[in-house]
Amino acid sequence: MSNAKNPIIAPSVLGADFSNLQKEIKFCNDSEAEWLHLDIMDQQFVPNLSFGPGLVKSLRQHSKLFFDVHLMVSNPFDMLLPFVDAGANGISFHIEATESRFTFPPKILINMIKKNGLKCGIAIKPKTPFSILKKYIEFIDYIVVMSVEPGFGGQSFIPSTFQKISEINEYLIEQKIRDKIMIQVDGGIKLENYKDVIAAGGDILVAGSEVFQSENPIQTINIMHSK
Ligand code: DX5
Ligand code: ZN
Repeated sequence: MSNAKNPIIAPSVLGADFSNLQKEIKFCNDSEAEWLHLDIMDQQFVPNLSFGPGLVKSLRQHSKLFFDVHLMVSNPFDMLLPFVDAGANGISFHIEATESRFTFPPKILINMIKKNGLKCGIAIKPKTPFSILKKYIEFIDYIVVMSVEPGFGGQSFIPSTFQKISEINEYLIEQKIRDKIMIQVDGGIKLENYKDVIAAGGDILVAGSEVFQSENPIQTINIMHSK
């Protein structure tokens, strides 16, 4: 079943020109984008480094969009409060990171995020089955389905993700919680495939390179938003 609502578009700052972030953020502010996706990488959970709470705090002065922090880090617990203080509105962490002996069980992370009044998401890598999330689902606001291996922007969408999105969508409908939990899809979303992502059940589309490398980022965002 496809989603009747317009998708939330979440441009990913990772795809922006870091030397001109004010201009890039203004494109997002002036578009139909509702969320801004902020990828945090620690070079441990993923083989890349991005940026930290200081940059998020600076961007906060230039945008009223919903700040969606995606933690791709080995120890999400220690990173939560710095991003809450920096102005995050939602934080997602990877379920795979919670297997590490350095971190805390998912329920503790969820409680900490919610206690601070933020929306909470849990992310799963392409090879991680959705079933692993079922026991947490009633406590969270969104599921982040990674459609590329986390770590880098500009990769190609992994086609098997469509099946995973549909599986999640159907499960949420069956459980009668479809209106309580959103499905975010992250990675490789382009003008050529965004409609299929929406048709499969995607509610929040994260797009980095397609938005910021396009000639007209505002138009690209608005096309995706219009379905
Ligand atoms: C990948 C990140 C994505 C990335 C998406 O690890 O989580 O959010 O920025 O970038 P594109 O749209 O270029 O695949
Ligand atoms: Zn991301």
